[in-house]
Amino acid sequence: MFSLAHISDLHLGPLPKAEAWHNYLGKRAIGYLSWTLRRRKIHDPQVIAALAEDIAAHSVDHVALTGDLINIALPAEYRNAAEWLKKFGSADWVTLVPGNHDAYVGVGWEKGLGLWAEYMTGEMRMPGVRPSLHNAAIFPFVRHRRNVALVGTSTAIPQTMRRAGGSLGAEQLKALAHILAELRQKGFFRILLIHHPPLPGQADDRKALSDSAHLKEVLEAEGVELVLHGHNHTHMRMDFKTKHGPAHVIGVSSASALAHQRKPPAAWHLYRIRRQDGVWLTETTVRTWNRTLHAFETEAEFILTN
Ligand SMILES: [Fe+2]
Ligand SMILES: [Fe+2]
Repeated sequence: MFSLAHISDLHLGPLPKAEAWHNYLGKRAIGYLSWTLRRRKIHDPQVIAALAEDIAAHSVDHVALTGDLINIALPAEYRNAAEWLKKFGSADWVTLVPGNHDAYVGVGWEKGLGLWAEYMTGEMRMPGVRPSLHNAAIFPFVRHRRNVALVGTSTAIPQTMRRAGGSLGAEQLKALAHILAELRQKGFFRILLIHHPPLPGQADDRKALSDSAHLKEVLEAEGVELVLHGHNHTHMRMDFKTKHGPAHVIGVSSASALAHQRKPPAAWHLYRIRRQDGVWLTETTVRTWNRTLHAFETEAEFILTN
């Protein structure tokens, strides 16, 4: 049995104060306003602390973190998030993929995503896969943990003013097809990690993955057992058929959110994956923040089969 915690969309706050004024221009000015007026009241650092404790209490084998650690890509936010990661867990225990807020505006690798690099590297190298334009890391990367393979992708590309979308790009999609085929032949339970909801129609146009139709074709052709994503800040589930069996697509709520408007409070998902009589059985638990109890509690449990 392999146990995996899935968390996403930490949106760590508060925003750092001591930053040069020129860091608040352009798109960041809008993001700063949105944080000050609205988002800082939604994303509560106390909830993240309780979530980390709840995960520790469950002694999971591994953690998948699907992006949006920060908010407006200030240099100090990357440094703070690197500190948070270090305190939360080691790089071989936590696998990270970046979200759109982690590339809110273009920031150099060294001062930006590069500070989290050890959480985003794998063991499997694919011929022809190169660092992407915006990330000097190699995506997709693969980490093997017993009979489970975690495949990390990046959809984090700086967007224009009002957009929160993302894309994988042709090179990542091509590499992904090779990776999924190889891992299938080796008999791994394949978990794809992606920040944006992966399938067409799962997010508003302004916030969507631009090449979701192409990704769906790759997944249908090569198969995948489980796809984990964040971005929509709500629990989502969708199943679809591939040429190699069923695929489950599950999105998790933000790890720091208090309930607001139509969005649920923070949650994390626990997956216990095992192989039994030639079938993959994945016991899934949704752990949700209870504001009154000031603790996480089980909201739902279900079993996935592949
Ligand atoms: Fe987010
Ligand atoms: Fe996002």
